Amino acid sequence: MNYTVNGKRVSAEPAPGQCLRTFLRERGFFGVKKGCDAGDCGACTVWLDGKPVHSCLMPAFRAVGKEITTIEGLAKPDGTLHPIQKAFVDAQAFQCGFCAAGMIMTVASLDEAHRKDLPHALKGNLCRCTGYRSIADAVHGIASAEEDEAGKACGASLRNPFSQGIVTGAARYTLDIAMDELLHLKVLRSPHAHAKILSIGREKAMAVPGVAAIFTWEDVPRRLYSTALHPDHLVDPDDTYVLDNVVRFVGQRIAAVVAETEAAAEAACRLLDVKYEILPAVFDPVAAMEPNAPLLHEHRGAEKGNIYVDIHGEVGSVADGFKAADAIHERTYSTSRVQHVHLETHGSVAWRGEDGRIHIRTSSQAPFIAQQKLCHIFQLRPRDLHVFTERVGGGFGGKQEMLSEDLCLLGLLKTGRPVMWEFTREEQFIGASTRHQMTTRVKLGAKKDGTLTAVEVHVVSNTGAYGGHASETLGASLGSPMTSYRCPNKKAGGYAVYTNIVPGGGFRGYGSSQSTFAIECAMDELAKLLGMDPFAIRRKNMIKPDDWIESVWSDPADVDFGSYGLDQCLDLVEKNLAKGGGAPKPAGEEWLEGTGIAMAMLDCGPPTEHRSGSVMALLPDGTFHLAVGSTEMGNGSTTSHRQIAAEFLGSRADAIAIINADTDKTPYDSGTFASTGTVVAGQAVALTAAALRDNILQYASRNSGVDQSACKLEDGAVVCGNRRITLKDLHAAGTKVGHRFEAKRKAFLSPRTTAFNVHGVRLAVHRVTAEIRILHSVHAADIGRLINPMQCRGQIDGAVAMGFGWALTENFVHSADGTMVNPQLRNYRIPAFADAPPTEVHFADTYDTIGPLGAKSQGECAINPVAPAIANAVANATGARFAHLPLTPDRIFSGIVGGP
Ligand code: FES
Ligand code: FES
Repeated sequence: MNYTVNGKRVSAEPAPGQCLRTFLRERGFFGVKKGCDAGDCGACTVWLDGKPVHSCLMPAFRAVGKEITTIEGLAKPDGTLHPIQKAFVDAQAFQCGFCAAGMIMTVASLDEAHRKDLPHALKGNLCRCTGYRSIADAVHGIASAEEDEAGKACGASLRNPFSQGIVTGAARYTLDIAMDELLHLKVLRSPHAHAKILSIGREKAMAVPGVAAIFTWEDVPRRLYSTALHPDHLVDPDDTYVLDNVVRFVGQRIAAVVAETEAAAEAACRLLDVKYEILPAVFDPVAAMEPNAPLLHEHRGAEKGNIYVDIHGEVGSVADGFKAADAIHERTYSTSRVQHVHLETHGSVAWRGEDGRIHIRTSSQAPFIAQQKLCHIFQLRPRDLHVFTERVGGGFGGKQEMLSEDLCLLGLLKTGRPVMWEFTREEQFIGASTRHQMTTRVKLGAKKDGTLTAVEVHVVSNTGAYGGHASETLGASLGSPMTSYRCPNKKAGGYAVYTNIVPGGGFRGYGSSQSTFAIECAMDELAKLLGMDPFAIRRKNMIKPDDWIESVWSDPADVDFGSYGLDQCLDLVEKNLAKGGGAPKPAGEEWLEGTGIAMAMLDCGPPTEHRSGSVMALLPDGTFHLAVGSTEMGNGSTTSHRQIAAEFLGSRADAIAIINADTDKTPYDSGTFASTGTVVAGQAVALTAAALRDNILQYASRNSGVDQSACKLEDGAVVCGNRRITLKDLHAAGTKVGHRFEAKRKAFLSPRTTAFNVHGVRLAVHRVTAEIRILHSVHAADIGRLINPMQCRGQIDGAVAMGFGWALTENFVHSADGTMVNPQLRNYRIPAFADAPPTEVHFADTYDTIGPLGAKSQGECAINPVAPAIANAVANATGARFAHLPLTPDRIFSGIVGGP
């Protein structure tokens, strides 16, 4: 069959039933991405005769005789970008960039009328990172990016260094790779919530043409580990085998098949003959704590039951505090189980190189820890195993988990051939990690003037079938959300409990989101009880700069105020909400209007040991090379790391080539999670760049005979007194005498600084349909100095949109037997363009004395106040309190009808 792709003739025969997406990718058009393979996300959008189509839904044979255009064919042959590609670069309308190719193909096909109606025009394209505001900017020709000037890198809205590749489809993501002899891996997943596997018959499956090998629990090392990736391996329980003979949730992997094609591997999975002994299951964590509840992990011992961990603490005496209170509010709140929905699903590819070593390219937030874990499981030496990332298409905490690398490695070790595994979207829901569902009881006591006398919080966290991240998220839920209010009497207790549900994991906000929802809702209810304004009760009780930073543990924490801007954030939200921007209340008496606010505090970085390193060199051509261990997954760290380095070197950011997250080529990094990209990896870059600057200036001083204090770096040169020598010449002179223009530094996170966020929202609730419309969304963040203002705003846009989804639509729905019934994007609804109205983003004016160059963390905390602000606004509008997320129409409707 003959096809025309990007103006060139392609002759090929698609496989029976093959879709256009995989047909194009097999021919090297890797700009055609997969986010769902179901027509929901638009990542696979291409043009057929100039019209956008979802190529995953289009049978390849239907494209015969038509002009196919992929993102690779949109720019002119001379490389001149299509105006929309350029607009996406200038507006930085992407973060991870995984959606960008499909989004650009759709936008570039719109006429003027459609561009005026983006909620409809872009309904077929999802972005999980940007919150869509910057995409709207690109469509409307609004440019935010600034020019890269030497010595002015920090504080400038510079473009992502990989922008060109992202908008042209040239950027390579994890699985954008062609390989000879490649085998594809697929797994059979459990249909039962709790069962013992008695036997697995493989004969029929092995007979499927193309099947190379099948692995079950009998073929894997019997070595326990946790899929969670932390540098301290003791904070997560070793409760997981690569493949097990007990399944503990619907979706757990049972067996793996490697075959010549994905289709053959899938067909073989369907033919595996598994005999189970069904075991009783438990889904509710409170029921799972009962003495006679089905036990999930027998190896832990019956006396521990299903409680993986419990945490308790008290400062002062809450009993005394409640006695002294004039008003007491108490209620139970709960948050839903949700998924990260990074558009690039989990995946990795493993092969043996000509050097005899094993290489694993993976979509991971922590490749160094994945390497350690794989070495433990398969008893390998670290020097024999190279783990690295290419461009990663989003993470949000979901890729702080080792979910695909182990089976790819097993397949390679057993077959000797390269093995690739890409999760489907359904697997992403039923077989990856989720935000822990938490139920939080809050009791607050206060004097008449609003002064808190007692705060008591009790959390039950449903960690699902495995305990990765359970203790850390539980600890976080009792940490900064309780610290953010001063009160002499605080008490907290928490339990993380095993149940037969898909496991919890790390997720943006990491446990603190759940309890922030509860505490911030409760604070509004207490204010109402006292007849106080929501801003006033927070100002009266919020933590102040000179306060002892204390949750419920009396031991001092390594947390400090490197800067403080919570007061500014509250002022900014109050002032800008009052201005009455956004959309007006819809006409009609059925619409109720309300406003709500919430605040959040977050420690910048985890309490566990976190370390990052970077190495930098001056190159012979006078430019620089920077290697940083941390992963870039759309958080913008490569952009900001270059800017930090450029600040010290007086150069343009563009003069610095950067690589990251590679166990061979970059120094160690504990992983990009817990808000460490700026405050740990960024600090390592700052130390390294400063050391390289000193190295260069010392050599230039020696070489020129001019005192070092009279030497300085400029763009591409060093100036000593009145003598200017280019860095290229300096490098040549230095290397002749054996001087090395290189530096390497590490950063270790302590003390940790604190970031603050406040969100305000005005919304309308329809009293009959229970529809909620966000009319005005205002966010203020205290994140210290803005290294890249455009990028900082983009991170907040994305976090707020994710908060909208968590508050309003996203939820795992399970049937009575523990099966998730909505594991598709069209049924599990993340916000589309129409669901994420733009947010006014404001920044407190602070400079952090702990973070690098005055900056602190920003990617995580912004989500925390969004859901409670929405819940508070709904309560304000309706007079009814909705204490359980998500705020779906059925809940709202019955709440309005039935009262609070
Ligand atoms: S991959 Fe085709 S629409 Fe999602
Ligand atoms: S930039 Fe859109 S999904 Fe990441």
